[in-house]
Amino acid sequence: MPRGEAARPQAAIEAAADRRAAGTIAFQGVGKVYQAGAGAVHALQDVDAEIPAGSIFGIIGRSGAGKSSLLRTINRLEQPSRGRVLVDGADIAGLDAAGLVRLRRRIGMIFQHFNLLSAKTVRENVALPLKVAGVPRAEIERRVGELLGLVGLAGKEDSYPGRLSGGQKQRVGIARALVHRPEILLCDEATSALDPETTQSILALLRDINRRFGLTIVLITHEMRVIRDICDRVLVLEGGRVAEQGAVWQVFGTPRHAATRALLRPLESALPEDLALLLRAEPPASGRYEQLVELRYAGGASESDLPAAAPDLARIASALGGRARLLHAGLDRIQARTQGRLLVAVPSGIALPPVFAAPSPTHAKVLGYVPAYD
Ligand SMILES: Nc1ncnc2c1ncn2[C@@H]1O[C@H](COP(=O)(O)OP(=O)(O)O)[C@@H](O)[C@H]1O
Ligand SMILES: [Mg+2]
Repeated sequence: MPRGEAARPQAAIEAAADRRAAGTIAFQGVGKVYQAGAGAVHALQDVDAEIPAGSIFGIIGRSGAGKSSLLRTINRLEQPSRGRVLVDGADIAGLDAAGLVRLRRRIGMIFQHFNLLSAKTVRENVALPLKVAGVPRAEIERRVGELLGLVGLAGKEDSYPGRLSGGQKQRVGIARALVHRPEILLCDEATSALDPETTQSILALLRDINRRFGLTIVLITHEMRVIRDICDRVLVLEGGRVAEQGAVWQVFGTPRHAATRALLRPLESALPEDLALLLRAEPPASGRYEQLVELRYAGGASESDLPAAAPDLARIASALGGRARLLHAGLDRIQARTQGRLLVAVPSGIALPPVFAAPSPTHAKVLGYVPAYD
C-alpha cells in the first residue's frame, strides 16, 4: 500500500460515495482466524474477490465455510486477520470511529431473524437509525413514509412486529436497512426463515431495489434457486477458501469444484422415476429399444454465445438421424442463457454426431436404452 493511503480513507470513501459507480467491494488476500477455546479456527484464507458496483453477488458454501465471516468484514463487524477489504477502493481497516459510523451508514444489512425491536412499531423501528443520526423529525417522517411505501408496507406503520408475517417483518428490515440511502446491502440468509412464496416476493423486492437505486447487494443463502434467480455473480467458499467464482450462468452451468457440484445437487433433477426403471445399460437381446440421449445446455458455451440461443428441435432431430422423441425436458433461463437438459430417445443404430449445429448442447451422451414406443 502506498504511504499516505491509510491516512486518506475517510476522505476517499466519502468522495467515492458521490460517484455514480459507488458500491464496489474488493477482498485482497483476506484471512480470518478466530481464537476459540480449543485453539485457532481458520475461518477464511487467501480470499480474493471483486464485487462490481450495482451487482447482486452471491456467497455460497456449506455451513461453517466462512460465508458470514466474509460478509461481516465488509462493514467491519469482523476484522480480517490478514489482507485487506476495500470499499470503493479504500481500505476500511484505516477508518477511525467516526469513519466507521459513516461507513456503516453506507452499508445496510438484513438478517435471517429480522432483528426488529418488538416493543416498537414498524414506523419506530425504521425511524430509529435516523433518530440516532440526528436527522430532523420532518425529514424522518418523510423518509420513513417513503421507504414503507417502497417495501409495500403502507398502512402498517403503527403495527407492532409481533402482528406481522415473516415476509412483512423482513420488509421492515429492508426499509430499516435503506434509511441512510446506502450503496451496499448485505443479506445474511435473509430469506431462510421464509416460505418459498414469501421468499420469491422478497427476492423480487431486492431485485427492484438493486435496479432502481443501483445498489450493490451481497447475499448469503443456502437456497441455490435464490442465487440462480437473482445473482449476477457467485463465489463458492469451501473450508474458508474460494473454491470457485464467476458469473452465475458459468458457475452453475459448468461447476468445476466438487463443493459447487454438491451444493447444486438439489437443483439437478434426477432421471424421472419411470425412465430410471426402464433404463438398461446395454441394448437387450429381445424387444425393440431406443437409445436414451441426454443433451445438456449450459448457456454461452455454444460458438454463437447468443443470449437467445436455445435448443433447436429440428436441428437436434436431424443431427440424431431424423427421428427423436422428446421424453423429458428441464430447461431454465439464467441471465438470458439456456440452462438444463433434454432427454431424447433415438433409434439404436444412430451414432451421436461429434458436433451439433449451433446452438449446440454443451454435452451429449447416451445414458442407456429404453423400450421403443412403436
Ligand atoms: N466468533 C467466533 N469465534 C470462534 N469461531 C467462530 C466465530 N465465528 C465463526 N467461527 C467459526 O468460523 C468458521 C466459519 O464460520 P461462519 O463464517 O459463521 O460460516 P458460515 O456462515 O459459512 O456458516 C466456523 O468454523 C465457525 O465455527
Ligand atoms: Mg453464516
